[in-house]
Amino acid sequence: PEYISVANLARAVKMRLDDFIVQMQNMGFEDVSHDHVMNAEVAGLIAMEYGYEPIADTSKEEDLLPRPPPEDKSVLQPRPPIVTIMGHVDHGKTTILDWLRKSSIVATEHGGITQHIGAFSVTMPSGKIITFLDTPGHSAFLSMRERGANVTDIVILVVAADDSVKPQTIEAIKHAKAANVPIIVAINKIDKEGTDIDAVKQDLAKNGVDIEDFGGDTQVVLVSGKTGQGMEGLEEAAVTLSEVLDMRAETDGPCEGWVLEAGTEKRGRVATALVNRGTLRPGDIIVAGQTWSRVRSLINEHGVEVEFAGPGTPVTVDGWRDQPLAGDSILQAVSEASKKVINFRMEKAERLRQATDMEAINNQR
Ligand code: GTP
Ligand code: MG
Repeated sequence: PEYISVANLARAVKMRLDDFIVQMQNMGFEDVSHDHVMNAEVAGLIAMEYGYEPIADTSKEEDLLPRPPPEDKSVLQPRPPIVTIMGHVDHGKTTILDWLRKSSIVATEHGGITQHIGAFSVTMPSGKIITFLDTPGHSAFLSMRERGANVTDIVILVVAADDSVKPQTIEAIKHAKAANVPIIVAINKIDKEGTDIDAVKQDLAKNGVDIEDFGGDTQVVLVSGKTGQGMEGLEEAAVTLSEVLDMRAETDGPCEGWVLEAGTEKRGRVATALVNRGTLRPGDIIVAGQTWSRVRSLINEHGVEVEFAGPGTPVTVDGWRDQPLAGDSILQAVSEASKKVINFRMEKAERLRQATDMEAINNQR
């Protein structure tokens, strides 16, 4: 790890040493002297207070980095697998997910087009919990789908029997392969007249999907999201493959995860987060991209406040200082030093808000 002394950091941000020490004390660093040393993360956070954009040399950073995976996976707790539903626009992804959740999301969507990544925990008939991510099929959402492929353990590739393989189907295949994620193919809309299932299978094979029918190991399930035909087979395929993959994660230690989407609600800025290691709790300080949050509350997909979110569980998180971006990775700030800097920034932001409010009030007079 790289360390820097207070004296050298003061020089780097072009401050007089005594002034700089006073400022650091204001931030909550009590026993600072000129030879007090701090790590790269803390130094970077402080430098940002002075308008600098520190460039992280990640090869040397130690704090605020994902933990290395443990050597023995078997000591870890099983976690719900993340199954992402991908495919061409209108091929029936949301309809299939609706059936799995026994709910009706399609009916509430604007124009029936999925515009974000929906995340849902679904209890399968076998009792196994699977986290499903619904992704938009519209080509405009390419980057979101790319992110979907990176957080997922399994891809369910939905292909409409009456439309076969289309550009976004091919993209989804590419993403799944690039992320080295196994695929289950769901040929959908088999209730429709005049469909040619064999032709669809040929098209899949032509595009590099090694389907079982042709000696590969990718399972193909025939379904209708509309009538429910074949859906038990799809559930079974997802559960069986999940059991083979045997996903596990730490439930303790610093939390790590992903921002799936972000937006503003009545309770302020929120982000749908997917925890992949550790457990997220209210009061935790998490950093995502250029922003951070002191988590006020966690709300699950049913709108119910929960006390914690463990690995594989999607929740919406509030308390964000700025809007995080979909695809940002989440890391929990646990070192006391990084918390101090973050606290200081939050207080400063609060003072600034109050000052702006006062100004607005004065201007009204
Ligand atoms: P995007 O989110 O926009 O990419 O679409 P999607 O893939 O989620 O498709 P969606 O579930 O919204 O379904 C598109 C249309 O196909 C809707 O009108 C559905 O009712 C219809 N549909 C979906 N599944 C089936 C099916 O199995 N059979 C028939 N006949 N229609 C279906
Ligand atoms: Mg959809």
